[in-house]
Amino acid sequence: MGNRTYTMIKPEAVAAGNSGKIIARIEDGGYKILAMRKVQLSKADAEAFYAVHKERPFYGELTDYMSGGPIVAIALEKDNAVPDFRQFIGATNPQEAEEGTIRKDFGTSLQENAIHASDSDENAEIEIKFFFSVRDLVG
Ligand code: CMP
Repeated sequence: MGNRTYTMIKPEAVAAGNSGKIIARIEDGGYKILAMRKVQLSKADAEAFYAVHKERPFYGELTDYMSGGPIVAIALEKDNAVPDFRQFIGATNPQEAEEGTIRKDFGTSLQENAIHASDSDENAEIEIKFFFSVRDLVG
């Protein structure tokens, strides 16, 4: 199992002023921040990042939303990072997320679910590289 994952705080959570609270939860959960930056994605950036969902009916809406305001991009380190972090943030739909998870507390809908998490070690590496160079990652 790899020890890195990629996350981003999504536009509605950044706009609501919840970035700091979410980052504190992530650190309190035992995840080390290797790199972090606030980014405004273009529509083309969002389309490229979510290319895996190109055929899904929500792709257009998702990429409009993700390019609609700044996000905070973060590379994280922890043992077993990918599965642990997915469990830590809660189910994709905030209404189905467990009490006390980031998505439960900060997500507002299936699409506007506050935070992203990589779904495999392979995708974690691809997603980290999308936002950061090797020299940006500081352990
Ligand atoms: P994320 O973990 O970033 O991965 C893909 C995103 O697409 C997901 O979080 C949601 O924001 C969004 N998403 C997933 N399923 C749906 C859906 N059925 N309708 C709208 N958006 C969705």
